[in-house]
This record gives sequence, structure tokens and C-alpha cells, in this order.
Amino acid sequence: MTGSINNEKEVVMNTRITTRKWDDFHAHLRQEELLRIAVPHTAAYFERALVMPNIKPPVCDMLVAKRYRNEILDVAHRSGYPDFEPLMTIKIVDGMNSGTVSLAHAFGMVAGKAYPVGATTNSEEGVSDFRHPRLRRVFEEMEAGGMVLSVHGEMPLAPSLEREARFLCELEWLATQFPKLKIVMEHITTRKAVEAVCSLPSTVAATITVHHLFLTLDDVIGGKLNPHHFCKPIAKTLDDRAAVQEAAISGNPKFFFGSDSAPHRRENKECGAGEAGIFTSPVAPSLLAEFFESRESLHRLESFVSRFGAEFYGLPLNKGTITLIKEPWEVPRIYSSFIVPFKAGETLQWKVVERS
Ligand code: DOR
Ligand code: ZN
Repeated sequence: MTGSINNEKEVVMNTRITTRKWDDFHAHLRQEELLRIAVPHTAAYFERALVMPNIKPPVCDMLVAKRYRNEILDVAHRSGYPDFEPLMTIKIVDGMNSGTVSLAHAFGMVAGKAYPVGATTNSEEGVSDFRHPRLRRVFEEMEAGGMVLSVHGEMPLAPSLEREARFLCELEWLATQFPKLKIVMEHITTRKAVEAVCSLPSTVAATITVHHLFLTLDDVIGGKLNPHHFCKPIAKTLDDRAAVQEAAISGNPKFFFGSDSAPHRRENKECGAGEAGIFTSPVAPSLLAEFFESRESLHRLESFVSRFGAEFYGLPLNKGTITLIKEPWEVPRIYSSFIVPFKAGETLQWKVVERS
């Protein structure tokens, strides 16, 4: 049996689903060798991706942004994805000039990404105090121009399981001080974050990753340590995951997909100081379909991956469709001999068969 889930009211038959093409509103496309692997895996399934700026040197000005965008487009074209559109972000850092963000916006960069200093990979330069007067001009400029503020919402000096919850007062402060600024709390992992995002005005939204729909802390440290489940923010409790899962299938436009797919070399994960980040882009469509199906919510999948994010960012909806069928496939154990994907070696139930 086949069926379409374009229409919420349509009856869904569970072996084939077709939706509008998808967006990933949070992707780490990396550089050099990793870039050449990350870009095709994202572009294969996502028409657009919001590209994180935490590369080296960081995307803090137009020159770096232009160069980086061209590199991404070059790989996408050469991999057979000429329609892939990288949505560029600029990294917000202490002491930044507000003119830099307006230039970035004029160049077409859709968001400024703020990492608290030390919060995660390559965040040595970032924001040490969101309330610092110098940043006020930057946020005002973004607010006036309609540029989105995307935040890694964790307080790095708090105990690791409390970092996200401790950031919520900063989120509330930002939303109150800059009432027209569109803010995305990225990769939420806690019930408290879900509640905060729901309670704040419609200018505040959140992305949800696929790995946080599947993992709890026990999947990281409950048995033998699994470095391939280690990411920031770290997965939390069953109750937190239940809240994030409910938000994803709720149909509330404040919650949309951002994979946070973050490949690292295997030796940098399986070592004494393992990097945070999970490479999910090869399995994201399959796992999203599996999760939404398990919650009898396949009719909500399309909005989550191709409508709510675009609408929040004020972007047109993608044209064309993507089709998945229910057919088992085995996730490779490793890509290019050095990147271990999420669910490596496991059998998943859904696969993408067509994009048009
Ligand atoms: O786990 C993560 N990895 N979280 C982030 O916020 C950054 C990412 C990375 O760049 O490796
Ligand atoms: Zn990220």
C-alpha cells in the first residue's frame, strides 16, 4: 500500500510516504576531508541546511563566509546535488561590531550563531556574557533586520546535566529585551527547555535533533561508554526525552528539525578526550520516519522537517518531493574508513528512494 502525508487529514498507509523536500536547520558541514563527506550526506536528503560557523577560523566575517559557501557549493555540485542550498550563519563573538552582522545579512546570511565560550567544539571564541552592553547593538541590528539569533543554549560552567536548564534565564532575558528578535534555542534536550520555549512568545523556537529523540544518558554512559553517543548538550533522562519527543510530534510550529549532525574522525571520538558530536545525516530521514511512525504521527512529519523551520526563518517552502519506503537497510559501520555514523551497523526500516 502507498500513501502521501502531504495533507494532515489524509489517511496514511504505512509503506511509502511522500512529503515536500526537507530542510535541516542545524548542520556541521566541516572543512576539507570531513566537508567532502558531510556535504553529500546532507545534500542527498536535505534541500537546504543551516550551516554552523564553528570552523577554523570561525565564520566571523564576509570573506570567510563567502569562501566557505563556495567550498560547500563546489562539493555539492561535484557530488550531484546542484540544487543544494547552504544557508549561512555568522558566528557571534565578544566585541563584535554590529556593522559586521548587517553586512552578513545583506550578503544573505540568515542567522547569527552564538556559542557561550567553551560550550562545545571550537567555541574558544564565542559569547562570554549575553548581557554585555557591547552585544546589545549586535542583537538590535539583527532584530531590526529580521536576522535570526541561533543559540547553543548551555551555560558551560554549570554541571553538565544542568547546563541547558541554567541557560533558560538567558533565553528569557533575550526574548524580553529584544521582543522582535527571532531566537532559536538549538538542539533542546530537557523538559524545562520545552516548557520555556512553549511559554515564550512566538519569536522563540527550538530545533530538535534525531539523536535526542532516541538517546538518553544511559545510552552514553549506562553500560560501556559509547563515545559515538556523546554530544552536546548530552542526552538526558527518560522524562526529558519524552518531553522532547512530544514537542516534535506536537504540531507546534515552534519545534522543527535541526540535525546537529556533527562528524568527527573516529580517533578523535574513541580516545581519552573524545569530541562531542554525532554524525546523523545518513540516518536522519530513516530514523525520523521510524520515530514518527512509532508515535502514529507520520502525518506530522512533513511540517516538522519542511514547513515550520522555513516559516520561522521567513523562507519559501521547498518545491518538489522526497519519498521514503519501508524497506530494511543496514547502516554502514563506517564511512570513508574514519567516520562512524549514528546507528552504525544497525538495520533501519525506512529508506529514501526518490527526490524530484
Ligand atoms: O555535539 C556537538 N557537536 N554539539 C555541538 O553543539 C557542536 C558539535 C560539533 O561541532 O562537533
Ligand atoms: Zn551544533
